[in-house]
Amino acid sequence: MSTYTAEDQRKVTTRRLAEMKQRGEKIACLTAYDFTMARLVDEAGVDFILVGDSASNVMAGNTTTLPMTLDQMIYHARCVVNGVKRALVVCDMPFGTYQGNSKEALANAIRIMKESGAEAVKLEGGAEIRESVERILSAGIPVCGHLGLTPQSINKFGSYTVRAREQAEAEKLLNDARMLDELGCFALVLEKIPADLAAQVAREVSIPVIGIGAGGAVDGQILVAQDMLGMSKGFSPRFLRRYADLSTVINDALSHYVSDVKISDFPNEKEQY
Ligand code: KIV
Repeated sequence: MSTYTAEDQRKVTTRRLAEMKQRGEKIACLTAYDFTMARLVDEAGVDFILVGDSASNVMAGNTTTLPMTLDQMIYHARCVVNGVKRALVVCDMPFGTYQGNSKEALANAIRIMKESGAEAVKLEGGAEIRESVERILSAGIPVCGHLGLTPQSINKFGSYTVRAREQAEAEKLLNDARMLDELGCFALVLEKIPADLAAQVAREVSIPVIGIGAGGAVDGQILVAQDMLGMSKGFSPRFLRRYADLSTVINDALSHYVSDVKISDFPNEKEQY
């Protein structure tokens, strides 16, 4: 088993992520939604922690990310910020908080920054949300883009399959990526697209490209922490590498506890006052 200790313990900033891309150092990213997990993820040397709206699926058991509210995202982001010393904390703007009107988008991004302490926001989409991205950036709030499979648009796509296999969609994605780069986004997440296309985007844009199901020729990788730790059952996309089987570990510990209570083995004399 290989372990990693970050040599540079300074706080990660958007500027340091840009420097990592320039010197070819890969960027390690994971999601977190709560204090306990955020602290573990940060201590492991993860550079960029995303408070993803996948909290809707992972924490709340919803089938899509759409029900997530701004207040809920702020709550999760605050909990994560409380557990993090080094990583950059980025908070997803939930569905409906930036697509309608750029003034509302800015007001919502400001709420995230003020009330959670997150250091950046992430928005899904390209040309359609240009005005919102511009306005949020103009207030000095770092923005991370997200293209390819954008789960907030699941009702338009109709499935979670690989995106941008067709030329027209691939060209739009390339143009959107160039636009987000030119507008001044600090990073771009590419989800579930062909590896060659992701590699092309990473070569063409100046900002770090973080992939999830987008192959290895990008500047960094992101996974949902609960998925890579083997806590989620029944979700096994090809891109997911499981680094642990925590479901089994937790199940064993929980049933051991239940059994100890039932047979009056817990607590023992040393475990009482
Ligand atoms: O919400 C999320 O977890 C995400 C990642 C999958 C990139 O957007």
